[in-house]
Amino acid sequence: MNRVGIVGIGNMGGAIAHGLINNKEEIIVSDGSAEKLSEYKSFSNVQIAKDNIDLVEKSKIIILAVKPNLYKTVIDEIKNEFSEDKILISIAPGFTIEKLENLLPNRKIAMIMPNTPALVYESMSAICPNTLLTEGEIEEVKKIFNLIGKVAILEEEYFPAFSGTCGCLPAYVYMFIEAAADGAVLNGMKRFDAYEFIAQSVLGSAKMVLETKKHPGELKDMVTSPGGTTIEGLKVLEEKGFRGSIIDAINATVEKSKNM
Ligand SMILES: NC(=O)c1ccc[n+]([C@@H]2O[C@H](COP(=O)([O-])OP(=O)(O)OC[C@H]3O[C@@H](n4cnc5c(N)ncnc54)[C@H](OP(=O)(O)O)[C@@H]3O)[C@@H](O)[C@H]2O)c1
Repeated sequence: MNRVGIVGIGNMGGAIAHGLINNKEEIIVSDGSAEKLSEYKSFSNVQIAKDNIDLVEKSKIIILAVKPNLYKTVIDEIKNEFSEDKILISIAPGFTIEKLENLLPNRKIAMIMPNTPALVYESMSAICPNTLLTEGEIEEVKKIFNLIGKVAILEEEYFPAFSGTCGCLPAYVYMFIEAAADGAVLNGMKRFDAYEFIAQSVLGSAKMVLETKKHPGELKDMVTSPGGTTIEGLKVLEEKGFRGSIIDAINATVEKSKNM
């Protein structure tokens, strides 16, 4: 039996799949699109399921990576095959443990919110298991998601805030990188050089937060010499409402995830 089955290999399911494949995990995948599935045929550690029921029969941990509007349909389809020893992993925002338990009663379920940097083993995932998972099973699930990045156990009440930030954040960072590159291009830099220089600067800045444990404001002050260039840029960002826009954007995603 495969340890992990992934239903739906689109953006998120595909990112998780590639993270696991490159870590030599044996997986099984299913998808509505035969074309997408054919891309996985060349991997020796990937089995292509005949359908979602076949996938559930052949795996212990099933990651449901279809769009939230298909959750009910797919759970209804697989629920007869879903024996007590299997674990359903939901990655859809808005699907609370209660909602999932109503769809699949008396079964082991964990809500997990990963993000697409899973593809380069740098996902930030939060896990909230239901009461039926044993400590050992929680560790097993954690180990799987550790193969694609960092993992934190998080109480359910913090999930909307987590998915509103970490689930969506990569899109905001890419938009920031694109806009910063436009600024560099405006000043004569070649576009592809700009992407590389700016992305490395974002990566380095994030590492500074993680590794120095200094307050982000202190790190900002370290870049901001009196009368220098950085403070000119910060003044413009404050005037244009940079912080307020980010807070409002995150608040909007959190509200949306609460009401899905
Ligand atoms: N994208 C992210 O950054 C992100 C982050 C965190 C969580 N999530 C969650 O991850 C889930 C998937 O999102 P996504 O962005 O990866 O969506 P997506 O790119 O549309 O991927 C969904 C995949 O599921 C396939 N599919 C549709 N119906 C199916 C069925 N009945 N059985 C098996 N496969 C089926 C789709 O195939 P077709 O295209 O052929 O229909 C598609 O390949 C969502 O619940 C989303 O909320 C996404």
